[in-house]
Amino acid sequence: MAALLRTYLLPLLALCAVPALTSLPGTCYREITGPRPSHVLTKPPHEHLDPSSLPDNFDWRSVNGTLFVSEATNQFLPSPCGSCWAHASTGALTDRFIIARKARVSQTKLSPQVLLDCASDAGSCYGGNDVLAYKFIHEHGITDVTCSPYQGVDNYYWGEIPCDQMMCRACDLASTCKFVNGTKYYVSEYGSVQGEDEMMAEIYARGPIACSIYAHSPAFLDYKSGIIQDPTAYNYTTHVVAITGWGVDQDTGMKFWVGRNSFGTAWGEEGWFQLHRGVNCLDIEEHPCAWAVPKL
Ligand SMILES: *[C@@H]1O[C@H](CO)[C@@H](O)[C@H](O)[C@H]1NC(C)=O
Ligand SMILES: *[C@@H]1O[C@H](CO)[C@@H](O)[C@H](O)[C@H]1NC(C)=O
Ligand SMILES: *[C@@H]1O[C@H](CO)[C@@H](O)[C@H](O)[C@H]1NC(C)=O
Repeated sequence: MAALLRTYLLPLLALCAVPALTSLPGTCYREITGPRPSHVLTKPPHEHLDPSSLPDNFDWRSVNGTLFVSEATNQFLPSPCGSCWAHASTGALTDRFIIARKARVSQTKLSPQVLLDCASDAGSCYGGNDVLAYKFIHEHGITDVTCSPYQGVDNYYWGEIPCDQMMCRACDLASTCKFVNGTKYYVSEYGSVQGEDEMMAEIYARGPIACSIYAHSPAFLDYKSGIIQDPTAYNYTTHVVAITGWGVDQDTGMKFWVGRNSFGTAWGEEGWFQLHRGVNCLDIEEHPCAWAVPKL
């Protein structure tokens, strides 16, 4: 009965509560039908960085020999869940905390589970939206995976106790668990960028971004290594990934994005991929990407 409730009734309730988002069945990205929210305080990098001044190759996996990124995750374990939007947004933001702290602190991954538990306006296991995830984090903060591990289910915690106070649990050896006020991470501003130049300026100046793509392409689903290429002109997106950099293939001159997926390390290049850049491959460049700035 509980399973029935979770599978059929709660998603229906969730859909009723979030009329502004649309998605196709079986996808984990939900489009905002109105304007995308933003909270922009400082001049975005793309307004003052000349794209021609950016390097040909730039990747936060190695900048001046330092690793500034978090590891690939798996949205399907321990339970299959359409939470790519939560993994990509928290993953890109985790990387930005690593960058902001100059990789001198081992940053624990921010919790996608908190978004599933509390950010029902942003999404659920039935899909969600990256910029709405950042809006939620801006308003409520987010904890890390040490006190809110990924479960791959929607718990719908909002109730008499505000979900802000249910983002972190502490348990003891007697198996007693309770909610505690754990360390919370916030963002000072968030917004969107679109297109190759804006994406590159944002990544270069401030760190990884969350981007939606059309992932139902076999070129993506069956990807093993190399640069993902697909000439089909997809005009909508179904999945969200973190983009951490770009490059140019030395042999072919083909431009590519570097991205981290949430299908585990068995997928692609240990969970990572390269995607043809500059040709709107999988609709990545004609669809807005989301960014957020860590508050230290
Ligand atoms: C990498 O080194 C360059 C040149 O010294 C410096 O300007 C830049 O800030 C460094 N980048 C990072 C992320 O440390
Ligand atoms: C967390 O902090 C809030 C505000 O200070 C307080 O009202 C609440 O009781 C605290 N929750 C827990 C579980 O300690
Ligand atoms: C997307 O492309 C399909 C096939 O070319 C077309 O039928 C559809 O109208 C397009 N949708 C939008 C929103 O442009």
